[in-house]
Amino acid sequence: MAQNWTPNSWRHKPIQQVPDFPDAAALAATEAQLATFPPLVFAGEARRLKKQLASVAEGNAFLLQGGDCAESFAEHGADNIRDFFRAFLQMAVVLTFGAQLPVVKVGRIAGQFAKPRSSNIEKQGAIELPSYRGDIINGIDFTEASRIPNPERQLDAYRQSAATLNLLRAFAMGGYANLENVHRWMLGFVKDSPQGERYRKLADRISETMDFMQAVGISADNNPSLRETDFFTSHEALLLGYEEALTRVDSTTGDWYATSGHMIWIGDRTRQLDHAHVEYFRGIKNPVGLKCGPSLQPDELIRLIDALNPADEAGRLTLICRFGYDKVADHLPKLVRAVEREGRKVVWSCDPMHGNTITLNNYKTRPFDRILSEVESFFQIHRAEGTHPGGIHIEMTGKDVTECTGGARAVTAGDLQDRYHTHCDPRLNADQALELAFLLAERMKSGRDEKRMVVNG
Ligand code: TRP
Ligand code: MN
Repeated sequence: MAQNWTPNSWRHKPIQQVPDFPDAAALAATEAQLATFPPLVFAGEARRLKKQLASVAEGNAFLLQGGDCAESFAEHGADNIRDFFRAFLQMAVVLTFGAQLPVVKVGRIAGQFAKPRSSNIEKQGAIELPSYRGDIINGIDFTEASRIPNPERQLDAYRQSAATLNLLRAFAMGGYANLENVHRWMLGFVKDSPQGERYRKLADRISETMDFMQAVGISADNNPSLRETDFFTSHEALLLGYEEALTRVDSTTGDWYATSGHMIWIGDRTRQLDHAHVEYFRGIKNPVGLKCGPSLQPDELIRLIDALNPADEAGRLTLICRFGYDKVADHLPKLVRAVEREGRKVVWSCDPMHGNTITLNNYKTRPFDRILSEVESFFQIHRAEGTHPGGIHIEMTGKDVTECTGGARAVTAGDLQDRYHTHCDPRLNADQALELAFLLAERMKSGRDEKRMVVNG
């Protein structure tokens, strides 16, 4: 692998999943303009996240990463962001309380716009058009004009990311995430569900604890950790021209950082060792993710770890595993053993969404029981191997959508048409996300209890 890295050295490598921009000059002009814009995140924040992820790698924290499959320009409202954040906070608090471990909070948000596609072409009836590749590249409408890749969309994506991040920072630091508000995060439609009832009980216990602490002099007023939370952003860094334009030198350390988000990841379709995406990622210092699917072989994984985390820095690399409920047992153990044998520090995270997509009534969907089943297997495998099931990576929304089937308030195949709003893959609704959080909390707690019993003999 070439030693000399620059933010544009990826341009000399083969690359997958690149859009066909018809106007190269317009693309270059947009990228030049983006390069003059302020960074969306600071290097210091990315380092802070890396530190928190190091604690996950060491088994002392849990990573919660989630959000839309694809953000869209059409749905950029405050209510959407708020509802997502509420659902996310509810999950985080359930996990923190249930598992009694700190939860590292990373949204798939404020930059999650570019989508890899399995086909370059979409066919409807007799008409064939280029596939939709995410709002940062082209439009979802099935018309010839909308499907032409348009570089100006990158400016819109940048500005939307900035506005979203601004609101998220306000929520996280400005009082909304205060633990005293734990009851207020409940979303209207979750209130009457079984998960709502469970959540209310947990929130009552937290409120009672907060009241007690207040009585002894510890309150949210004098204790920022009760009042604030660290919330980080992440996305798949697919569109490397955009990423390059936002790659900046950190003046404190002289290192290069991607400033489009705190953490970025490489997709399962673009992780070839000698290709452009791995080349770009190896030069930036952010915490990074690598999606691991069924085709990834153990020796290949070790070579990728060598390329992406040569110094074996804890927190630098998160392996996001997405095998499918029926394949995880065949694939995950060999990867875990290879990493253990080589003694590498990684965060193991489970993406139970992408390996479990099926089509029902012409809708792409994901059965909730398969999602839970992949999560259960992930936990069992790590328990058997003696490694830490470090985190979860999900596609979710705060809205009451009907995109994944199942859950306590069973969404059926026939319900999918009711509120199917996603711009790409089917997401868990807030109810299903909360149900998953309760299950995770139980598994983590029982894992810790088991460990304690072993230690206490
Ligand atoms: N600061 C702590 C944390 O982020 C506690 C906390 C504050 C919290 N607000 C929260 C935890 C909301 C979960 C959800 O973990
Ligand atoms: Mn997806």
